[in-house]
Amino acid sequence: MLGDFTYSNPTRLYFGKNALEVLANELPNYGKNILLTYGGGSIKKNGIYDSVVTILKSAGKNIIELPGVMANPTSEKLIEGAKLARENNVDLILAVGGGSVCDYSKAVSVSAYYDGDPWEKYFLKMEEPECKIIPVGCVLTMVGTGSEMNGGSVITNHAQKLKIGHVFGDNVFPKFSILNPEYTFSVPQYQMTAGFFDIMCHILEQYLSGTDDNTSDYISEGLMKSLVHSSRIAVKNPHDYEARSNIMWTATWALNTLIAKAKTTDWEVHMLGQAVGAYTNATHGMTLSAVTLAYYRHILKDGLKRFARFAVNVWGVNPEGKSDSELAEEGLKALESWMKEIGVVLHLKELGVTPEMFEGLADATFILEGGYRKLTRDEVIEIFRESM
Ligand code: NZQ
Ligand code: ZN
Repeated sequence: MLGDFTYSNPTRLYFGKNALEVLANELPNYGKNILLTYGGGSIKKNGIYDSVVTILKSAGKNIIELPGVMANPTSEKLIEGAKLARENNVDLILAVGGGSVCDYSKAVSVSAYYDGDPWEKYFLKMEEPECKIIPVGCVLTMVGTGSEMNGGSVITNHAQKLKIGHVFGDNVFPKFSILNPEYTFSVPQYQMTAGFFDIMCHILEQYLSGTDDNTSDYISEGLMKSLVHSSRIAVKNPHDYEARSNIMWTATWALNTLIAKAKTTDWEVHMLGQAVGAYTNATHGMTLSAVTLAYYRHILKDGLKRFARFAVNVWGVNPEGKSDSELAEEGLKALESWMKEIGVVLHLKELGVTPEMFEGLADATFILEGGYRKLTRDEVIEIFRESM
């Protein structure tokens, strides 16, 4: 391991079937006004809303509701939330939902007391907050993004056709997150498998970079093996608690900063996927699965040794008598068959992408330098074409 780093994670995490009970213990740490953020209504159908509201009311809190946080939350919705939080002198933002609600709540937390345009400040200019930040707590209902224990917040601006993530520092991480694997049982299969792929992609974005011998990469291999094992069980039986709990915990570790320590990281799949998201508003995990194989085939030769290690250590490919290129190819094939097995989207056309969009998609794709090779704009277009 050759890099220097600092490690801290300020989020207190409560995990298990009874995890929501601790909300009552957390609430006295905050003032009376709670902004309850949630999505399009799934929490009302599965009863999580009622359980949360009962606890808030018993604690004597004043609840300000902010429903309708959409998947891939928008810059307009951010302005609405920031205004509501400020007008109501909110003491805690309680996000009840998936990555979108959690990301959104973090964005509101740094925008309520900022007088300018938060999209411009935090997402276009990537500036850090200087204003008062409202604390955020999270009750997670959908697994994949890792937003429950990180500073990430991804916002979409449809007018500008841009989807951009800002990774904020410790002061924006959720103060606490409540993870009950049973809450994820009602997630529709499409969203569930998109989440599984998002987890795999987060790990790969960090694993497929760098050449030194690094503890983080061994942890990543363990996480990927656990994910592959449990996802195979969960797609057949979504109510398998053991599989869903392992996946929930794996998702958190996949993106709570640990496995990036002392490493360079790639994140180009996310840049390609986010451009697709900005154009189509497609489900995040599926935008990644649709471009992954084409991207990795483009950089395979540049990261041959790591791709070969991925084949052997994650997929159990027998290395005997095989060259690194043969192993690397077999590793990608194994990844592809797992993707088919869990049923993620493999073609961009299924997400509504058309060839007329390629130029615009390339404009919306940020080209990063942390992977095994920096792409050219022409290659970005080729990757979109090959992903159709
Ligand atoms: O809105 P409701 O009705 O709640 O329905 C949601 C939504 O339609 C539904 N859902 C969530 N929990 C459910 C449920 N349905 C039934 N039962 C439940 N228990 O699932 C749908 C998708 O939810 P969403 O929150 O959008 O999914 P996800 O967790 O994948 O979040 C996606 C967002 O996170 C960003 C993505 O770009 C995207 O905007 N990301 C955030 C990251 C971070 N903070 O670090 C990193 C990721 O790479 C990602 O970019
Ligand atoms: Zn992701």
